[in-house]
Amino acid sequence: MAELLNGQHRTVMCGEVTTKHECKKITLMGWVHRRRDLGGLIFLQLRDRSGIVQVVFDTDVCDQSLLEKASTIKLEYVVSVTGKVRRRVGNNVNPNMKTGEIELVAEQLKILSEADTTPFSIGEENASEALRLKYRYLDLRREKLQQNLIIRSKIYQITRNYLSKNGFIEIETPMLGKSTPEGARDYLVPSRVHPGTFYALPQSPQLYKQLLMIGGMDRYFQIVKCFRDEDLRANRQPEFTQIDLEMSFVDQEEDVMQLMEGLLGKMFKEVRGVTLPKRFPRMPWQECMDRFGSDKPDLRFGMEIQRLDETVKDSSFVVFSNALNNGGTVRAIVLRNGCDNLSRKDLDKLVEFVKTYKAKGLAWYGLGAEGIKCSFAKAVSEEELNGISTALSMQKGDIALMVADDNWQTAVVSLGALRCHLAGKFGLVKEGEFACLWVVDFPLLEYSEEEGRYVAMHHPFTSPKNEDLEYMKTDPARVRAKAYDVVINGDEMGGGSMRIYNREVQKLMFETIGLTDEQIADRFGFFVDAFKYGTPPHGGLAFGLDRLVMVLTDTNNIKDVIAFPKMQNASCMMSDAPSTVDDKQLKELYIKCEDVDHHD
Ligand code: AMO
Repeated sequence: MAELLNGQHRTVMCGEVTTKHECKKITLMGWVHRRRDLGGLIFLQLRDRSGIVQVVFDTDVCDQSLLEKASTIKLEYVVSVTGKVRRRVGNNVNPNMKTGEIELVAEQLKILSEADTTPFSIGEENASEALRLKYRYLDLRREKLQQNLIIRSKIYQITRNYLSKNGFIEIETPMLGKSTPEGARDYLVPSRVHPGTFYALPQSPQLYKQLLMIGGMDRYFQIVKCFRDEDLRANRQPEFTQIDLEMSFVDQEEDVMQLMEGLLGKMFKEVRGVTLPKRFPRMPWQECMDRFGSDKPDLRFGMEIQRLDETVKDSSFVVFSNALNNGGTVRAIVLRNGCDNLSRKDLDKLVEFVKTYKAKGLAWYGLGAEGIKCSFAKAVSEEELNGISTALSMQKGDIALMVADDNWQTAVVSLGALRCHLAGKFGLVKEGEFACLWVVDFPLLEYSEEEGRYVAMHHPFTSPKNEDLEYMKTDPARVRAKAYDVVINGDEMGGGSMRIYNREVQKLMFETIGLTDEQIADRFGFFVDAFKYGTPPHGGLAFGLDRLVMVLTDTNNIKDVIAFPKMQNASCMMSDAPSTVDDKQLKELYIKCEDVDHHD
């Protein structure tokens, strides 16, 4: 039978009992992590958020009734134990436990809550993810998850401190709002009061934060939930958290970037004891794409993409010559000492791998211990092969992997993905290292084949570079944005931009992306109107907080840093959300569901 706490207080947390408590009487409360019953002697391990401590029920010290009570205890019972701290001696000292030098000799025990057998044991690492997520509250009892959430909490504190000290004020913006132009699908909330209309949950507070600048708030920040209905990946959740901020009277990217380097520096120092460089490298988008085939390159390893156009310009290999004749390109990466570590079967798999990135194929040429290994040896002369190995500075053992394509982006993106794949496969990533980078000079616009027009690469309020304004009408693809992304270890941690605050430039932007006055008025009329009444130059950024915590806790699964995450299909295993609702609720909202069985 469970007992009442009755006002009793815990005096120390389990993981914090040390030899300095020796001979002191203390009260601990927590979950029973392990138990061992040796007849006249019962050992319990008691666990709370701070750690685990050993409790002993010893008939030499306690009476028989206490021992009998202790023998009814099962795993995960919640108990309160009062007793004296005793120093462990000799072999009894457990150097693997933080509290291994002491134990609590129980004098009093309260069973506060009994526990059924849990679906998986708390210490066990192999339970399936589905089971863990169904019983997330049990999974949360694991030390690793608790530590991750403690670090997450520290990040909130560091952020609030740093930004407050730098003149930012914390302001909340609505969750029930109008669709924002972030580009993903919205989560919609039907309005009961205005039948047939919908709020959109914010994809980000972008419009609001700019309006706050027009409202004279000068510097704003918010730790805020954002909602995007998009395909989920290991680093994406449908609801995620941003550290969102905006500042007035700036028009240079550096103003935001330097301030943010300070914030990231503090986070890494305080959480990991790591000193990040005061200034991260800056790399233009085009250079990132050319060298790494990605706008979020992982700089912890080399294997950079190289251009072979000049070397193979007279190639007799049609794959190369066709691509070049069509205005395309031939690019390569070199895996050092990879030639003899990649079997024919492995190479075939790599061909399939690059095809998933739209490459038509992958050519290889390696200098193996037993001679040359080349997928196109029959088509070319020895001289041409020598030319390639010289151009790529290949040495014995190396293998070059090449993609030729009419489209340079397909060539670099597929090789960029292959580069990361091989680095993972061959363990080239230096663990424990943090490679930070600002990607700058993004294109302002990209051509959408689907829509047959230019669209904003970030959002239509991102400012073009002053010196590129002249190309807005003549060569839109050439215009660069005052935008920046911060990348750590190959993952995009955040991004932002300087915003357009000049009416003519905004008009030009809308014209270039082909928005009519009606479309502008309909989508963001209230927003554009606001700019008529005095707008300070402004810019900002948003960090993906979940991703920052992922890097800081060395996990590549975003679910490990969120208390109650969603599954890949955006459902919650624990609560079964999303779920059907009563007809009455739907009726009130004037909503009828179609035959959903046939809907996909
Ligand atoms: P952006 O869309 O780049 O910018 O988002 C900022 C950062 O948020 C993180 N992020 C995500 N994290 C987890 N799950 C997701 N589904 C997800 N989507 C994005 C990324 C990303 O870098 N309003 C602009 C910011 C600005 O211009 O100030 C914005 O939202 O780490």
